[in-house]
Amino acid sequence: MATTLTINGKQQAVSLPDDVPLLWVLRDELGLTGTKFGCGVAACGACTVHIDGEAVRSCQVALADVWGDVTTIEGLGTPDNMAVIQQAWVDHQVAQCGYCQSGQIMNAAALLQAVPNPADQDIDDAMQGNLCRCGTYPRIRAAIKDAAQRISEGA
Ligand code: FES
Ligand code: FES
Repeated sequence: MATTLTINGKQQAVSLPDDVPLLWVLRDELGLTGTKFGCGVAACGACTVHIDGEAVRSCQVALADVWGDVTTIEGLGTPDNMAVIQQAWVDHQVAQCGYCQSGQIMNAAALLQAVPNPADQDIDDAMQGNLCRCGTYPRIRAAIKDAAQRISEGA
């Protein structure tokens, strides 16, 4: 079915079956490959994007069920104008292989919207579904705390 999605602030016409997962729409139809396929069963978080600001697993949302505006890692910031959370990720050199990191950042960005000054337990609770086989969890936590601090200071 033909439908129109708003992705990273831009309207995109999509003509695919209703049950195609959003992840496939983003990657294969629209070329937004920053969002990664990890498990396909909501178990890893690599495919995390925002719908109306809420972190969702795009492998689990069918095209027909997309209920609002979609933001992917490409829409969070650009290399020349990074979001605060992305800059914190760079400064803390969080990424190792990098595969999980766009999902980590999208999940963390939604956390900071909901909880501007998260405690360790808030971070652990919010991020527990985002797996990192490289074990970058300590740097993820440090970057989230740093981003929270920078945002509170008006960055
Ligand atoms: S690919 Fe969606 S949660 Fe793993
Ligand atoms: S940085 Fe390699 S899986 Fe997370």
